[in-house]
Amino acid sequence: MKHRNEIKVWDPLVRLFHWTLVGAFTVAWLTEDDWMALHAYAGYVIGFLLLFRLIWGLLGTRYARFSDFVRPPSRVAGYLFDLVRLRAERTIGHNPAGGAMIVALLITLLITTFTGLLAYGATGAGPLADLLFSNSEYGSELFEEVHEFFANFTLSLVVLHLLGVAFGSLLHGENLVQAMITGTKRA
Ligand code: HEM
Repeated sequence: MKHRNEIKVWDPLVRLFHWTLVGAFTVAWLTEDDWMALHAYAGYVIGFLLLFRLIWGLLGTRYARFSDFVRPPSRVAGYLFDLVRLRAERTIGHNPAGGAMIVALLITLLITTFTGLLAYGATGAGPLADLLFSNSEYGSELFEEVHEFFANFTLSLVVLHLLGVAFGSLLHGENLVQAMITGTKRA
C-alpha cells in the first residue's frame, strides 16, 4: 500500500524500460558467442527500447524527461565533489551524476546496438544484410571489434552505475532499487 508521504517518481513505462533493458542486456551478454539468433533478438529489443527512451525523454512524465536530469558538466562536477564529502543533496528524480551516467549509457548502448547491426549485416544477416556489405570480408571483423569494444565499455559503465545506485542509497538512507520497482519514493 502507498503511504501518504510517498510520491510517484518513475512512471510504469520507465520501469518497464529499465527492467526489460536489464534482461535484454543480460541475454545479449550470455549469448554473444553461441546463440547468434537469440543475441540478435536481444539486440533488437535493446534498439527499440533505446528509441522509446529517446522519445520518452522528450515527451514523457516529469522525472523521465531529459530536461529534468541532464545537467551541465559543471553541475555534475560540483555534485561529485559534494558526493565525496558525503554532502550531496538528495534529489527526487535522477541526481546530476546519475543523469550524466544515463546519457553515457544511452550513447554507448546506441553505438553498441548500431555496430552490432552492422556486424550482423556484414555476415549477410539481419535488417542491414543486403544494404551495404553483404559478403564483404572486411566489414564483419571491423564492426565486430568496434561492437565488442563498446559492449565492454557499456559493461564497465553498468558497474559504475550499480556502485552509484548503492552509494546513493546508503547516503540518503533509501532503497533506490526498490524505487525503480515500485515507482515511488518518500517525499
Ligand atoms: C540488476 C542491475 C541493475 C540495477 C539494480 C539497476 C538499478 C537502477 C536504479 C535504482 C536506477 C534509478 C537511479 C536513480 O534513482 O536515479 C536505474 C536507472 C537506470 N539504469 Fe539501471 N540498474 C541495473 C542494471 C542496469 C543495466 C544493465 C543498464 C543498461 C545496460 C541500466 C541502465 C539504466 C538506465 C538507462 C537508467 C535510467 C532510467 C530512466 O530514467 O529511464 N541499468 N537503474
